Amino acid sequence: EKGTYSHFMLKEIDEQPFVMRKIINEYQTENNELKMDTGVRQAMNSCDRIYIIAAGTSYHAGLVGKEFIEKLANIPVEVHIASEFSYNTPLLSEKPLFIFISQSGETADSRAVLVKIKEMGHPALTITNVPGSTLSREADYTLNLYAGPEIAVASTKAYTAQIAVLAILAVDTAKTKGLSLDFDPMRELAIVANAMEVLTDQKEAIEDLARKYLRTARNAFFIGRSIDYHVCLEAALKLKEISYIQAEGFAGGELKHGTIALIEEGTPVIALATQKNVNYSIRGNVQEVVARGANDMVISMKGLEQDTDAFVIPHVHELLTPLVSVVPLQLLSYYAALHRDCDVDKPRNLAKSVTVE
Ligand code: M6R
Repeated sequence: EKGTYSHFMLKEIDEQPFVMRKIINEYQTENNELKMDTGVRQAMNSCDRIYIIAAGTSYHAGLVGKEFIEKLANIPVEVHIASEFSYNTPLLSEKPLFIFISQSGETADSRAVLVKIKEMGHPALTITNVPGSTLSREADYTLNLYAGPEIAVASTKAYTAQIAVLAILAVDTAKTKGLSLDFDPMRELAIVANAMEVLTDQKEAIEDLARKYLRTARNAFFIGRSIDYHVCLEAALKLKEISYIQAEGFAGGELKHGTIALIEEGTPVIALATQKNVNYSIRGNVQEVVARGANDMVISMKGLEQDTDAFVIPHVHELLTPLVSVVPLQLLSYYAALHRDCDVDKPRNLAKSVTVE
């Protein structure tokens, strides 16, 4: 039920801090050790390469998950759009492990890949919000997202839950492999939960930004580098699917290779600046688009901010910034859709789970 909320999407955005805390509890033993299915542990430890398969927002969570698994657990990862995998099947490694990420667990494009790789005899893990779902039942292992039912077509809390569970999975794998890590995921996720709460308390400020930048916009661009780029893809999807504004996410460095031609007087360009090592370069990209007339909105992280930034998110661990930077972007999409009189929870032409290929 929506309760006092006008839309499920807003309710689900607000639930994210609680979902983070639920995940922390569910993936921790009484002795504060990581709790992980032993089959999953074995599968992660015996594979030589991971293939993440997903669609839409879940695919974007997979892109962030790749960063965790490669950087923390030292296993190579490929992330594939489910619907493309059948035609563009990569050469597989000797001991592949397939990870299916799906809120609903019913996405037909992902299921088609699962059926195919099971026929080939490869192991599969499904990370889903619905443990009894098709993808969960047909895979060898399941990890639950514990996000609670997600009703709005636009996925919000499932995305952050997927990223949190992937971070825990990466750290758990690193620990079982005996790799030394300077990263306590539960402590960092608790900090993330608090930061999310700070952001969901700032709805008015974000609503103002949506009004100012997006109420009458024809298009909008999100730019970022490194892990911020993955979040830009997600932000663009969120904005386009509920507000019908043509939105695209670009890697900052790609602007000069073509996309900067799209910038006109007043074009909204939303830049993410949460990563220290690329802060200088993304700021340079902002200057380039401003020089061509863009209406820039920089969302930065505390410690990296500049006076002219539109919005600053609290400081969290650099690897986990997507969990936090996405919150104002979800709210931005929500308010943009609201002020353009769109049907926020049920956008045109879309279904909550896509059960046809
Ligand atoms: O249930 P799934 O996570 O498999 O769904 C995948 C996509 O259909 C889904 O994320 C879709 O892109 C959302 N509407 C995005 O908000």
